[in-house]
Amino acid sequence: MKSAVSFDDFGLQDLEAVYDLECSLNAYPWSKQSFVDSIESGHGCYCLRKDGELLAFAVISLVLDEASLLNLGVAKAHQRKGYAKQLLDAALQQSVLAGASMCILEVRASNRSAIDLYYDIGFYEIGQRPGYYPAAHGREDALQLCMPLP
Ligand SMILES: CC(C)(COP(=O)(O)OP(=O)(O)OC[C@H]1O[C@@H](n2cnc3c(N)ncnc32)[C@H](O)[C@@H]1OP(=O)(O)O)[C@@H](O)C(=O)NCCC(=O)NCCS
Repeated sequence: MKSAVSFDDFGLQDLEAVYDLECSLNAYPWSKQSFVDSIESGHGCYCLRKDGELLAFAVISLVLDEASLLNLGVAKAHQRKGYAKQLLDAALQQSVLAGASMCILEVRASNRSAIDLYYDIGFYEIGQRPGYYPAAHGREDALQLCMPLP
């Protein structure tokens, strides 16, 4: 029988798994301390698990009614199976329950898969931040995206 994917919080006990996943996905990964700070400051730290494996994670902060998607990743072997959509849907529902009425995020201008994902679920561009990210040759712009939450 196929086991189900479950939506859950992640915490300090998941630090190694989340950090390993982050490092496998990004040339400029978050530090371990950034994940610790997110957990300890009470940000929404969400994940998908299957058979004990952490497949995907998302970190969302909330200030007043504004949620910010700070980080998101899906294990390479499990991409393009709808997990990012599933995780964001559940995580943004939690944000709404906590009082959010909108979500904003920044994404690298070259990150086509993430931009397509965000447009697909209803985000739209509200601005750009020139040179926001480090890059192999200099800096790279960020797109700022926003989505009202129901
Ligand atoms: C971006 C990322 C989170 C997408 O995760 P995923 O689980 O593969 O995404 P999903 O399967 O839920 O895809 C949902 C939709 O997003 C878009 N999408 C996702 N990956 C895509 C790709 N490689 N190329 C084009 N569109 C893509 C598609 O519209 C897709 O719908 P479809 O499969 O019906 O066409 C994943 O590629 C990832 O972890 N990337 C590295 C980390 C990262 O860039 N995080 C975002 C930081 S802002």
